[in-house]
Formats: sequence, C-alpha cells, structure tokens
Amino acid sequence: MKFKNQLISVIFIFSLQSFADVKNVAHRGGALLAPENSISSFKNAIVLKADFLELDILISSDDSLMIMHDETVDRTTNGNGLLSELTYSQLRKLDAGRKFKKKFANEKIPTFSEILEIANKNKIEVVAEIKSTDSTAVKKVVAMVQNYKMQDRVILSSFNIDQIKEVRRLDSTIRIQLFATVNKEIIDQLKEINAEWIGSNEFSQEIIDYAHSKNLLFNVWTVNKESEMISLIKLGVDAITTDDPATLKKLTSSKKNK
Ligand code: G3P
Ligand code: CA
Repeated sequence: MKFKNQLISVIFIFSLQSFADVKNVAHRGGALLAPENSISSFKNAIVLKADFLELDILISSDDSLMIMHDETVDRTTNGNGLLSELTYSQLRKLDAGRKFKKKFANEKIPTFSEILEIANKNKIEVVAEIKSTDSTAVKKVVAMVQNYKMQDRVILSSFNIDQIKEVRRLDSTIRIQLFATVNKEIIDQLKEINAEWIGSNEFSQEIIDYAHSKNLLFNVWTVNKESEMISLIKLGVDAITTDDPATLKKLTSSKKNK
C-alpha cells in the first residue's frame, strides 16, 4: 500500500513537471494570432508569456539582418522579389501586416536588432533561425547576439548543420539547435558537437528518449492542436513550437494539469 502511494506521488510529480516545464516557443511570433515575424506577433507572444520568440533571419542586399521566413517578400507583404535583392530602405517601405488582416496595415518587416532589443527589455528568450545561406550570415548573426550580450538568451538554429557548427566555433556560449526530421544518426552527430537542442517535425517515444540519453533537449514543430500538444507533453518533449502560443499557455498553466 505504501509503495502504491509512493508510485502515485511519483506519477503526480512527473505530470506536474512535464506540463508546467514544457517550453512554449511562439513560431514566427505566433503566426495564427498576428502577422508572422512581425513586431505585433512578437509583442503578442510576450503578453501571452511564451518562453521563446521564434524568428527567421535573411539578409538584405545592403547587409541588414531582416526577419522574414520566405526568400521572397511576395506572400507576406505588398511587394515582390527576393529579400536578398532589396535594400533595407526598400524593405522598410513594404506593408507586412495588411495581407494578414486589415487592422495590421503598415506593419514593417522587423530587423533582428529590433527584436533582440524587445526581447532583452522583456526578458524573453529567442529561437533565431538562420535562413540566409550567405557565407557571411553566421558571422553577422553571432556578432549581433554578442553586441546585445544576449548569448544566454538566444538559441541559434538552422536546418544546415554546418551553420550551427560555425556558431559553436565562433562562440561556444551560445546554445545551438538543428532543425531536421530527426533520426539516431543525426542525434549522434549533434552529440559530437555538444549541441543543446534538436528541433524536429517527427517524433516517437524511442527517438525522444534517445535524444535525452545524449543530453539533447527535444523541440517539436509546428504543433497547433491542443490534443497533439497533450500527447507530446506526455511523451516528454522539452519544447513545443506553435503558431498558437495562447492554446499551449492555457494548457500548461491550467489547474487541471497541476
Ligand atoms: O521551429 C522550426 C521551424 O521554424 C522550422 O520551419 O519553415 O517554419 O522555418 P519553418
Ligand atoms: Ca523558422
């Protein structure tokens, strides 16, 4: 009987930790709630008390680090063309909000520097994904994080393992994350460079446990349904990247799950 009670306590403590501890990563700031990768979406994620702002970094033709997911500005703004072929001042003239909803008209494409400043002020962490494939991209991104002295508040991420290896070489105090459809070989490669995080769009109990056995934290993207969030938390993931940080927040702070 005593053992049964202890077991119930252990299960209770485990579920308490797993729901409350899973990190809420606001994908593109929370792309279902406000224009993706915009100041409005990042401010909204801060209001919602997400743990991380996730954002994508590209480089303008005159070397500014800009926050946008697609290589072209066509889908999310009133302009067209490759972001990398437009100057900072051309990019800042574009409307990056109206296509999402009229009330967000005149939203500007943010810079990495602006978001770091906002994150710093609001003491929120950042998952910054290097989307640019330019050979100078990693150096520029690392230098910007160092300028803001935010090495302990930013996880630099990429689908390209060479880019995160370069981050590690340049500044070993910045956490790194590889985005991939994860398997054991990838986890082994990440272990070799002492990466902190793996971000995956596929998962299983076995692969999550394997990552944990190699001291890697497991982030799953992009999860917007509450039922899927619950299943993932039960599997023991460390972070969920979502377009709907409000739903995840409700779930992790619900009394029902405490
Ligand atoms: O969080 C991972 C995710 O951001 C990678 O996919 O295409 O949304 O940048 P994507
Ligand atoms: Ca991304």
